Amino acid sequence: MWNFLFKMIGTELNKAVKHLKAGELVGIPTETVYGLAANGLDVNAVLKIFEAKERPFFDPLILHVNNLEKVNVLILSFDLRLKKLADAFWPGPLTLLLPKNQLVPDIVTSGLNQVAIRIPNHPLTLSLLEQLNFPLAAPSANPFGYISPTTALHVNKQLGEKVAYILDGGACEIGLESTIVGVEEGKVCVYRLGGLSIEQLEAVVGEVTLKVNLSGDPKAPGQLKSHYAPTKPLFLGDLEKLFNQHRGKKLICLCFGEPPPFKDRVRILNLSPNCDLQEAAKNLFGFLRQADELDGDVIIAQNLPMLGLGLAINDRLKRAAVN
Ligand code: TXA
Ligand code: MG
Repeated sequence: MWNFLFKMIGTELNKAVKHLKAGELVGIPTETVYGLAANGLDVNAVLKIFEAKERPFFDPLILHVNNLEKVNVLILSFDLRLKKLADAFWPGPLTLLLPKNQLVPDIVTSGLNQVAIRIPNHPLTLSLLEQLNFPLAAPSANPFGYISPTTALHVNKQLGEKVAYILDGGACEIGLESTIVGVEEGKVCVYRLGGLSIEQLEAVVGEVTLKVNLSGDPKAPGQLKSHYAPTKPLFLGDLEKLFNQHRGKKLICLCFGEPPPFKDRVRILNLSPNCDLQEAAKNLFGFLRQADELDGDVIIAQNLPMLGLGLAINDRLKRAAVN
């Protein structure tokens, strides 16, 4: 078993390069979450991503490259404000929606005219991309709808049998997916809250429009209502109220800052005892997985402050929740 694991997971770039060139799937680290990568210009390789994740074809993929020249090869034009964001935040947790050219297969964009592109900020993956003459299509490396992976072991646990190799780059620095930004009717719009905060975006391009919704409309990018969800039911709200509502049940409680006063029948996982939103972001998905694995019936969680990464964390909690 360990021997097998050892062959599957590692830091050998040449193995990752070999498998990707052969059209196979490889788990890759990024600063946000781990990706399930394949040659983004090879339709058959991309199909394997959808199969492995059991992902519906209407949910398009992000292409990853390591420099702007490689971005320009894939697009028709670059809106000046989006270019400013790219200059400010790439490599980093920012995905841009840009008009695609004919090189990008329709399966990558689910038939849309725009392609999602990002330059991730992880040294191993940047070196990997440097050695490839094609972009990597990579969604988060989790089964569709489940919690995103933030370590190589998370990837192995759920998709290990479906990938040729997992490049181990340690625990993800940010822990939340990239922020997705595009332009609509002349306005800079945010379609998914993520590792780059609204404040950071607005410091570069001025006011942005939030197009993040919970409607479950798959045309609204990446925004299916039920997503990032653990198997156990998760309830979001006032912890003390939830504690009282779920009498007689074993609870797992995700809190932030001062822990709640109750102790019996509760296992407490504190996202950040010192109220540090970056720490909470980094812990979020790992703790949700732990909560799923611990002995307990129900997960209860509270909303975090609505500033900085707090918006994206609350967004993920809301999508993970049943209420
Ligand atoms: O941080 C991240 O973005 C990670 C790492 C691996 O880079 N990737 C990631 O991919 O979160 P994924 O597939 O789990 O989420 C990407 C979201 C999708 O939900 C999709 O709806 C949206 O991006 N998206 C992709 N291409 C799009 C397009 N052409 N137009 C609109 N939305 C798009
Ligand atoms: Mg995902």
